[in-house]
Amino acid sequence: MIDFQHIIDTIAKEANTAEERGKVASYIPELSKVSAKKFGITLLDADGNSFSAGDSNERFSIQSISKVLALAKAFDLEGDHLWQRVGVEPSGDPFNHLSLLEMENGIPRNPLINAGAIVICDILVSKLNAPKQDFLTFVQQIANDPTITYDEAVAQSEKKTGFKNYAAAYLIKSYGNLTNDVETVLDLYFYMCSLTLSCEQLVKVFYIFMNHGKCLRNQHYLNIFQIKRINAIMLTCGFYDEAGEFAFEVGLPGKSGVGGGIVALLPNEFCVATWSPGLNDKGNSKLGMRALEKLTTKTGLSIF
Ligand code: DON
Repeated sequence: MIDFQHIIDTIAKEANTAEERGKVASYIPELSKVSAKKFGITLLDADGNSFSAGDSNERFSIQSISKVLALAKAFDLEGDHLWQRVGVEPSGDPFNHLSLLEMENGIPRNPLINAGAIVICDILVSKLNAPKQDFLTFVQQIANDPTITYDEAVAQSEKKTGFKNYAAAYLIKSYGNLTNDVETVLDLYFYMCSLTLSCEQLVKVFYIFMNHGKCLRNQHYLNIFQIKRINAIMLTCGFYDEAGEFAFEVGLPGKSGVGGGIVALLPNEFCVATWSPGLNDKGNSKLGMRALEKLTTKTGLSIF
C-alpha cells in the first residue's frame, strides 16, 4: 500500500522551504494580491480517501482550470457537433496567442486555450437558460458543495483588463464562429475563470474525470467516451506550450490556471490538486509542477 499522506507531507515540506517560487500573475490585477508563499495539495483516491497538506483548504482563483468544466458541460449539451467549432490539437503557443486563430479561420486549436474556451462559452450561452447560474450549479452539484462561488472582484478585474480576450472574441466573431455578442460571451468567460475553489474542493469536482464520468455520490455526468476525449485533451493541451514538458515530467492528464492551481488525475486511481501562486515563464505553477513530478516519481504512478 502506498502511504500517500507521508508522500504528500514530504512534498509540502519541500515546497514550503523552496526559495525560487516563480512570479504571481499580475496581468489580472486582482490576482497579484495573493501571497507567493502559499502552497496546498490534496489527493483523492478512487475510494474517496483524501490526503492533504499545507493550504489545501484555502480557496483560490482556478482560472483556466475552469475551461475543462466548461468543456464538459458543453460536450454534454452539444455532443460531437462541438468539434466542428473547435479543434483537438495542441497549439504549441501561449494560452492567449492570436496568430493561429487568424491563420485557421477562427477555429481555435483546442478548447483549453483562451480562444477555444471563448467558443465553448458561446455554446453555453446559446444552450443554457441562465448561463452563469447554470454553470455554477453544475460545478456545485458535482462537488456536492453549494458554497462554491465566483469571485466578483476577480471577474471585474479581468473584464477591465482582458483586452486580448476581447481581441480573440472579435476575431472569432469576424470568422462567423461566435453566435452571441462578444460582451455576453466574455461575461460568462470572465466569471467562469473567477471560480474560487480550494484543492480539497477541486479534487471532488475532477473526480468525475478519473471515475468514468461519475462523481463521489455515483451520479453520472458524462459517458466514458466523453471522459476519454476530455482526458486526452487535458494531456495534450492542458499546459499550453508546456504540455510536452508536463507529460514528460509528470505523466498525467491535467490542467493549470494562472491563479497557480493545477489539477491532474490517473484514471481509476486518484485525482490530485496543487496550489502555489508563483508561475514559471509559461504561466504554469512552478512549485505545483515540481510537486506533481515528485508525486508520480515517488509513487511510480502515472499513465505511462
Ligand atoms: O483569460 C485569461 O487570461 C485568464 N482568465 C485565464 C488564463 C489562464 O489561466 C491560463 N493558464 N495557465
